Amino acid sequence: MTKIYNFSAGPAVLPKPVLERAQAEMLDWHGSGMSVMEMSHRGKEFMSILEKAEADLRSLMNIPSNYKVLFLQGGAIAENAMIPLNLLNGKSADYAITGGWSKRSVEDAGAYGTINVVASTEAEQYKHVPDFASWNLNKDAAYLHICTNETMSGVEFDSLPNTNGVPIVADMSSHILSREVDVSQYGVIYGGAQKNIGPAGLCIVIVREDLLGNASPLTPAVFNWKTQAENISMINTPPTYSIYIAGLVFEWLQAQGGVAAIEQVNIAKAKLLYDYIDSTDFYVNHVAVNNRSRMNIPFYLADESLNAEFLKGAEANGLLQLKGHRAVGGMRASIYNAMPIEGVQALVDYMKAFEVSH
Ligand SMILES: Cc1ncc(COP(=O)(O)O)c(C=O)c1O
Repeated sequence: MTKIYNFSAGPAVLPKPVLERAQAEMLDWHGSGMSVMEMSHRGKEFMSILEKAEADLRSLMNIPSNYKVLFLQGGAIAENAMIPLNLLNGKSADYAITGGWSKRSVEDAGAYGTINVVASTEAEQYKHVPDFASWNLNKDAAYLHICTNETMSGVEFDSLPNTNGVPIVADMSSHILSREVDVSQYGVIYGGAQKNIGPAGLCIVIVREDLLGNASPLTPAVFNWKTQAENISMINTPPTYSIYIAGLVFEWLQAQGGVAAIEQVNIAKAKLLYDYIDSTDFYVNHVAVNNRSRMNIPFYLADESLNAEFLKGAEANGLLQLKGHRAVGGMRASIYNAMPIEGVQALVDYMKAFEVSH
């Protein structure tokens, strides 16, 4: 079989050693005689898996002790509704639109209260994070919502606005654990797991303790962050197997040297691809240099009539799932933590060869 590199935006490539370990432990986890899938979530075996996963995530991200870590279901889109339900408490909230995902967050949150869009690059097709000086922030807002890495358009924040104490709520689904982050600058960080963490079905919510306890009575118990924090994310059955794989990914990341080390690899990977795209007129990326995502790199062929041929040839070379999101077209290479630099090099080699032959 040709060596495969999977550039899917999510569910996405997982580290091979993680899959191998899961395979080895599939039928009998640590001599328990059971697969993790068969364990009671309240049994001592699974409890030890959950506790270790949380401890490892805390150490990887340096999460301060006044933050709770929740392992929830529903994905990031469920949190679009749960954020206003848990935090609004009769106030309004500020939202910035910097891509398709933050736009979707605004649309979903609107059902639960007053949402003010304080900045938007929709009219400019999401090519940059707007200058913070132009944001119409409200000092009485319950929170400011941002998506710090827009998976479709490949726009990543390189800094944060000054909100004068209004908590920042960040959708980090597609770049959590890819770069160092000062958690204390955020009120809430959340992300679906199926990109940089593990399999689909798990959403991680990291929330500052003082923000708990403001939920609307309409909040479903399984999505009430305070209730879940008080019940170690077990008010319902958590996504046990996804948590187990996430735990293995955290251990793998530690073995790579942690977030600071993988960030350097991610910088090198992204540079390799952007440098090549910038060196030719054959391909183009439209995002402002400072806001170019290290994780999701959209690019377009100057002659879009070659798209189908490009994708067919890529697949024949083992370079999979490069088609851009249907909302933006073109191509997209998602190069999460588990994508080795050899995969990016293989992509650049193919792009060069395609350019030469066309
Ligand atoms: C930044 C971002 N937010 C939200 C979502 C939606 O996540 P889910 O489908 O897990 O609800 C995605 C999915 O790709 C995403 O990339």
